[in-house]
Amino acid sequence: MERRQFLSWVGVGMLASSLPFALAACTQAEDSPEGEGESSDAGEGIAPLETTIDDQGFQALATREQLDLGPVLVATATVPVFIFEADGEMVALNPTCTHKGCTVELQEDGTFLCPCHAAKFMANGEVADGPAETPLPVFEIKAEGDRLLVKVGA
Ligand code: FES
Repeated sequence: MERRQFLSWVGVGMLASSLPFALAACTQAEDSPEGEGESSDAGEGIAPLETTIDDQGFQALATREQLDLGPVLVATATVPVFIFEADGEMVALNPTCTHKGCTVELQEDGTFLCPCHAAKFMANGEVADGPAETPLPVFEIKAEGDRLLVKVGA
């Protein structure tokens, strides 16, 4: 074997032996916590404005300003709460379909449609069309200044 050919083989061997390290470095970057955070919380709602629940069971979940921009989905410690306006009134309900637990979606006509089996709910949570038989849970809601308080506790 000539010297030039030997050096060429050594170069290829070094490149091949370093390839697993390069691939591992790329894999670790994809598995970083930053990447996990991007996918796990998508579409699950914003954090509550405050975490404390007062002695009457109310918790500040959002601001009036946020609601003015459109419906707000808040992920509380216990349930998701969807806050929106219907006929000028604030409404807060649990958007979890009572049939098998999919998240219902607000329609342009103010009703909710379940994407899984097409159950339909009215803005007040009542069932408009099955297969769901139980209304969406509705929570008491009130405004205190700019804060929107929802009775999520007992
Ligand atoms: Fe909503 Fe089945 S989960 S209709």
